[in-house]
Amino acid sequence: MQAGHQMFEGTDAHRWTSWRVLYLLAVGVALTTETRWLCPPSCHCNTSALEVNCSGVQFMTVPSGLPREAKLLNLSHNSVKTLLHQQFHTLTHLLHLDLSDNLLVLIEVEAFLGSQSLLTLRLSRNQLKIIPVGAFAGLTNLQLLDISSNQILVFLDFTFSDLAALQFFTAAYNELVFISHQAFTGLTSLQELHLDGCNLTAVPTEALTQLRVLKGLHFHRLGLTTLPNYSLHHLVHLKELIISHCPRLETLLGNSLFGLNLTSLTIKHCSLNGVPYIPLRHLVYLVYLDLSFNSITYIRGNLLGDLLRLQEFHLVSASLVCIETGAFKGLAHLKLLNVSRNLLTTLEAGAFHSVETLKSVGLDNNPLACDCRLLWLLRKRLHLDFGGRPPTCTTSVQLQGWNFLDFSEGELPNLLTCRQPRILNRKLQDVKVDQGHTVVFYCSSEGDPLPSVSWLNPQLKYVSSVGRIRTLSNGSLEVRYVQPHDSGTYFCVASNAAGNDSLPVSLHVRAFPPSSKNHFLPQGWSAFPSDSPTVNGNQKFPFDVKTLLIAATIGFVSFFSSVTVCFIFMFFWSKGKGQIKHTATIAYVPRSTMSNSNSGKGNSTEPSRFTMKLI
Ligand SMILES: *[C@@H]1O[C@H](CO)[C@@H](O)[C@H](O)[C@H]1NC(C)=O
Ligand SMILES: *[C@@H]1O[C@H](CO)[C@@H](O)[C@H](O)[C@H]1NC(C)=O
Ligand SMILES: *[C@@H]1O[C@H](CO)[C@@H](O)[C@H](O)[C@H]1NC(C)=O
Ligand SMILES: *[C@@H]1O[C@H](CO)[C@@H](O)[C@H](O)[C@H]1NC(C)=O
Ligand SMILES: *[C@@H]1O[C@H](CO)[C@@H](O)[C@H](O)[C@H]1NC(C)=O
Ligand SMILES: *[C@@H]1O[C@H](CO)[C@@H](O)[C@H](O)[C@H]1NC(C)=O
Ligand SMILES: *[C@@H]1O[C@H](CO)[C@@H](O)[C@H](O)[C@H]1NC(C)=O
Repeated sequence: MQAGHQMFEGTDAHRWTSWRVLYLLAVGVALTTETRWLCPPSCHCNTSALEVNCSGVQFMTVPSGLPREAKLLNLSHNSVKTLLHQQFHTLTHLLHLDLSDNLLVLIEVEAFLGSQSLLTLRLSRNQLKIIPVGAFAGLTNLQLLDISSNQILVFLDFTFSDLAALQFFTAAYNELVFISHQAFTGLTSLQELHLDGCNLTAVPTEALTQLRVLKGLHFHRLGLTTLPNYSLHHLVHLKELIISHCPRLETLLGNSLFGLNLTSLTIKHCSLNGVPYIPLRHLVYLVYLDLSFNSITYIRGNLLGDLLRLQEFHLVSASLVCIETGAFKGLAHLKLLNVSRNLLTTLEAGAFHSVETLKSVGLDNNPLACDCRLLWLLRKRLHLDFGGRPPTCTTSVQLQGWNFLDFSEGELPNLLTCRQPRILNRKLQDVKVDQGHTVVFYCSSEGDPLPSVSWLNPQLKYVSSVGRIRTLSNGSLEVRYVQPHDSGTYFCVASNAAGNDSLPVSLHVRAFPPSSKNHFLPQGWSAFPSDSPTVNGNQKFPFDVKTLLIAATIGFVSFFSSVTVCFIFMFFWSKGKGQIKHTATIAYVPRSTMSNSNSGKGNSTEPSRFTMKLI
């Protein structure tokens, strides 16, 4: 940067400055002797308010002879290209300077030196590419700085270090690619920073740590895919954070908002695929939350309860298909919910902590099914603010196109009806089965709206959709590798907004026989489940009873005949030798059909042995 610095000082502009200073001095002398208010040609001056308005008069340079008492100088909409060293040093009383909409490409070091009273400085919509360190020297009282809509690429260390009183700073719509770590050093009073429309690819965490009293931060168009942990953790006074138009931003890491105590958070026009429950959890002072224009599909139940003080929740134009029961549980102050332009078919009263606090609901442009689930909302319709767009019924044939304000009080209960669920095909499902099989119980139901089916196990706990025992998406219950302790009565429960219906089914699992020798079925049990269609076909026995019996018979016959032949041979042989061995140990490998192969988990290769005594 040092090189750039010297370059600015060594230009022709500098020589020109000397002439200009001389000229200004001469004019200054003339002014003090004659009238103090000599309005520059083409400008409009208001002498009582001490304002000089030279807006849109095609100045190529800052005019000379500006009244020294001026409090306001408007030079916007001109063609000024450069601001010279100490350009405004005579204007010691100037409070407001507007240089927006010019062609500024260069601001020399100490350009504003001398105008120590200046409170606001506007430089937006110029062609600045760089701001030299020291350009703002002397502006110790400046409160507002606007350098938006230029082409600035980087902020260098200590660029703003003289602006100790600065409260509001916007650098929106520049092409910032980098903010140096010490760039914001000295901005000890800054309360609001706008970095909208800048192409930053990372959160300038280091630079932001300097802004200890910052209250508002606006970021647009960040090229991030995720907001890293501890990105903003030194901004303990930050109240409002706005992040928008980050098309690659999909997630906020768990600790990304760590250290913040926000009252207002907006993350919109990004690609969040879910509500960031965990990063939000500690924001107990949050009042306003806007997650509009993201690809969020669900608001899950019971996960936002820590946001005790939340009053407004906006989630417009997302892809919401469901707001689960208990979604806003704990939000006892929720006044406004705006979920316009989503894919919601309903909004149940059970989602809210209390519907009494609600004042505004945006629910237009959703494919709403007008049934008993929306009755609560229709009953409140005259006391709610729908933002000028009342919801309309879309999915039910009968009420197609009906606007919420079209209903009369009397017809509500008759039109917005639900039908209680009814479980179809109530045939007794009573399954007796051997350990190790897979069993499926069916449960189909009807109702309006379509009931959701869940299963309770014999301990009356809900069966989840994963695991050995699980509910399938078509409403069936699947028990894989049944175990004796799975036995008992299961309940299918079909429920919708109108009520529930349930159906018991029973399962009896027979344990494996204690040893492999016992293949005979005990009294009253069959090798088949009593209700064979409910046993998964793939898991049926690999052989039938006939095969088993034949195999067993052949096995025993051949086994005993071999042993007998063997003993007879040994008997004669030992007689001939004169030595008698009274016992013999015979090891054998049981044939698979004789072992417990029907269990599906045979360890039948292990040899068994028995001892025989010779007669
Ligand atoms: C300055 O003049 C312009 C154009 O003549 C006008 O639009 C603007 O309102 C004026 N501003 C002030 C502060 O008087
Ligand atoms: C900043 O982003 C805009 C839009 O994405 C793009 O047109 C522009 O070229 C980018 N500028 C830089 C310096 O990367
Ligand atoms: C961010 O913080 C979360 C929550 O503590 C943690 O689970 C995660 O591993 C962290 N990620 C990184 C990249 O540090
Ligand atoms: C958080 O902010 C609220 C008001 O916005 C304030 O009352 C509270 O004291 C703050 N908490 C902390 C820990 O700073
Ligand atoms: C919801 O947001 C949309 C779009 O921003 C707006 O038009 C509508 O008025 C809002 N509704 C309510 C109830 O605030
Ligand atoms: C449900 O799905 C399971 C596994 O996909 C299948 O075996 C069963 O037949 C299905 N039930 C019905 C009633 O369609
Ligand atoms: C079914 O409805 C009854 C009352 O109608 C209720 O007490 C019960 O809790 C409901 N059961 C389930 C599982 O929803």
